[in-house]
Amino acid sequence: MREEIIRISEDEIARQREFAQKVRFHPDRPKTYFIVTYGCQMNAHDSETLAGMLEDMGLTAAAEKTQADIVLHNTCCIRDNAERKALGNVTWLKEIKKDRPELLIGVCGCMIQQAEMANKLLKQYPFIDLAFGTGNLYRLPEYLLEAIENKDRVIRVDREASTVAEGLPVRRENDIKAYITVMYGCNNYCSYCIVPYVRGRERSRLSDDIVREAELLVQSGVKEIMLLGQNVNSYGLDSAEGVSFAKLLRRVSRTGIERLRFMTSHPKDLSDELIDEMACNPVIAPHLHLPVQSGNDRILREMNRRYTREHYLQRVQALRSAMPDIGLTTDLIVAFPGETEQEFQDTLSLVEEVRYDSAYTFIYSPRKGTRAADMPGKIDAAVASERIERLIAAQERITGEILSGMHGQTAQVLVEGTSRRRETQLTGKSGRNINVNFTGDASDIGKIIPIRITGAGSNTLRGEKEE
Ligand code: SAH
Ligand code: SF4
Ligand code: F3S
Repeated sequence: MREEIIRISEDEIARQREFAQKVRFHPDRPKTYFIVTYGCQMNAHDSETLAGMLEDMGLTAAAEKTQADIVLHNTCCIRDNAERKALGNVTWLKEIKKDRPELLIGVCGCMIQQAEMANKLLKQYPFIDLAFGTGNLYRLPEYLLEAIENKDRVIRVDREASTVAEGLPVRRENDIKAYITVMYGCNNYCSYCIVPYVRGRERSRLSDDIVREAELLVQSGVKEIMLLGQNVNSYGLDSAEGVSFAKLLRRVSRTGIERLRFMTSHPKDLSDELIDEMACNPVIAPHLHLPVQSGNDRILREMNRRYTREHYLQRVQALRSAMPDIGLTTDLIVAFPGETEQEFQDTLSLVEEVRYDSAYTFIYSPRKGTRAADMPGKIDAAVASERIERLIAAQERITGEILSGMHGQTAQVLVEGTSRRRETQLTGKSGRNINVNFTGDASDIGKIIPIRITGAGSNTLRGEKEE
């Protein structure tokens, strides 16, 4: 099934704003909200949009989930544990609702978008008042008004996921760093992955909309922007604009933003044009998240990743010859169906060869509806956890070696705040995206300053301000 890409019209967004005004002046509306977010940065940013819409309706953030009048769970279903955690927390709220029947419980995000999930919620979770999917998030004002006026459940899980809505209000979590989603969805259909089913097909925002958003962020004092997409390298391929991701990066870097990051890059689409742009553009941080998943060609083929180990290593080499100091990070899956010990060792040896700054490691989790879920060769749970432990141990050693090797170097640190323990202890991130702690004062917050590295912990650096 090929879904249509639907660009939500300005009229529709205006209609939602009218619903928002009606909610704002409704005597029975919830006064406070709490959002529980699971999953990736894109979900985190969607939650900022949900918060923006709720505040537009006059609600304010509650300090505790148990005190809020409405609790929204923005869910993830990438692995089974993400889903169980969300459902567990939703169920826990049922007890709170017994004491406070006016509490509205909402569920949205990727988990909801799965086939059969809406029915399951309707039947097995009668205490859920409000549910909507990823493609109709922009209609929250309409749904909330309906829930308040009819005092009835509103379950609007549209299987249609491929929408683009511009101009929604956003309440950002951080004054220094901000996310901008540049494209939604994914067309890659890696055989283990649920994302293409729950986030719809790839659709890029127009570059002018993205640049305008970046300009407004710069004006409001934001220092770092992270551009988000499941595979940013295919940005623009679905639109007639003819703006590649490398060109988009260049345009955004000229808005006056001090530091620019992006994720995620699919290795099959990592172009020389992008590597060149990263190498010659000082605003783009010297860090790339390049998920490899496995170091074995047969497994990569079964995963439908559409690159080989050799191609991946060649891309790493191209990156490092253009930028000797670039930091690389990755995602790795162990115990994919049929993975042999030898095939797993290929992943280990790739990790040794590339030497990532850090890696996210996952045990394969079957997702209903994906191709891999029907593959034979399920790996025993004990074998899977033994593999992931070996992989984590190898990566921790490499991270330790890389961090200790930074002793004496100078890192450009965007200072984000004080540490929880001491006011004079400041913390920020280097260009390579590594946490750096140093002694300074509050006037450093929000600046990029040079810090001489004097020591390393297991995944953070210590340093001193350069005179
Ligand atoms: N679009 C990004 C990743 C999105 S999901 C990319 O292509 O790299 C983040 C990570 O979750 C993936 O890189 C993968 O390592 C992991 N993941 C996805 N599906 C999974 C599954 N079914 N089981 C275990 N890990 C999975
Ligand atoms: Fe999932 Fe693959 Fe798309 Fe990433 S590129 S979101 S892993 S299907
Ligand atoms: Fe999870 Fe959806 Fe992100 S499934 S990882 S929240 S795109």
